[in-house]
Amino acid sequence: MCGIVGYVGNGETDAIDVLLNGLSSLEYRGYDSTGVAVANGALRVHKREGEFSALESTLPTESLRGDSIGIGHTRWSTHGPPSDANAHPHTDSENRVAVVHNGIVENYQALRDELTAEGVDFESETDTEVIPHLIGQALSAGAAPETAFRRAIDRLEGSYAVAAVFASSDEIYAARQESPLVLGIGDDGYYLASDAPAFIDYTDRVVYLEDGQFARLSPGEFVVTDANGTVVDTTVETLEWDAEDAGKSGYDHYMLKEINEQPTALRQCLRGRVDGLSSTVELAELADLEPSWPVQFVACGTSYHAAMFGAELLRERGVPAQTFLASEYDADRVLVGESTLVVGVTQSGETADTMRALREANRAGARTVAVTNTVGSSAARECDHALYIRAGPEICVAATKTFASQQVALTLLACRLSDASTHDVVQALRDVPDQVQHVLDTSRASEIAAEYVDSDAFFFIGRGHQYPVALEGALKMKEITYRHAEGFAAGELKHGPMALVSEETPVFAVVIGDGERAHKTVSNVKEVEARDAPVVAVTDGQTDVERYADRVLKVPASNDVAGAITANVQLQLVSYWVANELGRSIDKPRHLAKSVTVE
Ligand code: AGP
Ligand code: GLU
Repeated sequence: MCGIVGYVGNGETDAIDVLLNGLSSLEYRGYDSTGVAVANGALRVHKREGEFSALESTLPTESLRGDSIGIGHTRWSTHGPPSDANAHPHTDSENRVAVVHNGIVENYQALRDELTAEGVDFESETDTEVIPHLIGQALSAGAAPETAFRRAIDRLEGSYAVAAVFASSDEIYAARQESPLVLGIGDDGYYLASDAPAFIDYTDRVVYLEDGQFARLSPGEFVVTDANGTVVDTTVETLEWDAEDAGKSGYDHYMLKEINEQPTALRQCLRGRVDGLSSTVELAELADLEPSWPVQFVACGTSYHAAMFGAELLRERGVPAQTFLASEYDADRVLVGESTLVVGVTQSGETADTMRALREANRAGARTVAVTNTVGSSAARECDHALYIRAGPEICVAATKTFASQQVALTLLACRLSDASTHDVVQALRDVPDQVQHVLDTSRASEIAAEYVDSDAFFFIGRGHQYPVALEGALKMKEITYRHAEGFAAGELKHGPMALVSEETPVFAVVIGDGERAHKTVSNVKEVEARDAPVVAVTDGQTDVERYADRVLKVPASNDVAGAITANVQLQLVSYWVANELGRSIDKPRHLAKSVTVE
């Protein structure tokens, strides 16, 4: 999920300089450990938990000069907490090959069991470490490095960008499957990275690898092949970004980049967890969790809205569930018992309010589950169970992709904790990443933002599953535009807030599906329209809400779960474009911090 860099030079440039430059320019992606391996007859591997500076300050840089082949890595842990041992590169037992990997090896446990039975000792808890050992096994059987690499990759299931260097070869071998990998064509050698900023100081000529492709980089040539080993024709493109743009992959802000990363993040969250054929959900991390109730969610801010969505799903499936703002949670008053399951939803896993609530729940004897993006975080360590949302690092203070991934992860959790049929949910979830992509490709949010940017206030309404979406839409608008925004349960508007509604206050109404709730929200839309407020319907078109709306933001027709995810993407885009029109500091809004570690 994080960054790879690699270099094979013709001797003019030291690999270590390219690697350090690359790692420092990948820093923006967020990471928890870094490492490098350089090759020259032998492999020299250095890796450290923590910031890039932790590696750099302990690296014997001068002694690594003179070598012109190497790979580097910034890690965002998915398997095993951040530690020196879990940092990449990983090697085989005889130090013949060093490997860096982004992504998740889904079948790593089976491979690890198989390798352990054959006498292999593992030094880390990562899924990645099976790769160098598989390569090592093939080398021991007499295979050449490239063959050994391909054989190992053929055994992997999951998502990966992998690069390997060998003690006995002056080449880098790489492969990609659902994690990005780009080659850089320089005058002094060939570069490899998960993202072009890692080498943009050296070359702007690139070749993007496709899923299923392999690359071999040697000092004099690069060769791209398909899964069968057939050489593929490649197109060399010239990047038109400068180094700063490149850091955001060409987007103006991390927020927009992260909004656009959602299809990938959601695929990553679903990977290996749903079986489309049998419509079942399997969460390996929660294998020994006995479902019990009541379920109490504790969370703050955006994560609280995701928790509300999760609680609604559980209730719909017959499981009693409540949501608490973590700062208001008091385990004595909410009657926590041994059968109570307390779920802390927190992307950072470090939010002080949420941690306090979880610790109280632990003390009161509840069983606790952390739903988090951060492996090894306080929440993950201190709860009885952790379910990872796998969104990858999020840099923008305002949460976007982590919210969508929380929605998906909590949907999976709701399936896991109830006996109700999972068929419809699983089928809907499988389509969600493509539907989000469709929204991103077709959204007219920027036009609507331009039209309403000068409004007095922005209101958001929704019912049931769409109520938390309305709240989240308003929170996003507040955070990055500094404009007055409120989210309401659609039915509540007439009980007071309607007094605020005017021609100058657009009302965004989230209307998904064709159920009773959707039709009731359409009635609320009519009430708003009758008071001359502009209405923007965020809808999948299954009701006639468009007749009463001034503007429409369309999402693909689906059910309440998928609709809550796609509708939220439209609202993220509206907030983003309003903030952009206003020239706000979008990635770092005033007065806010990414991780709030005080109560
Ligand atoms: C989201 O945009 C905000 N930055 C904030 O509400 C955040 O969701 C909240 O502080 C909780 O953070 P957590 O998910 O890391 O616990
Ligand atoms: N799954 C691997 C790990 O946890 C790779 C993570 C990454 O992409 O950085 O080490």
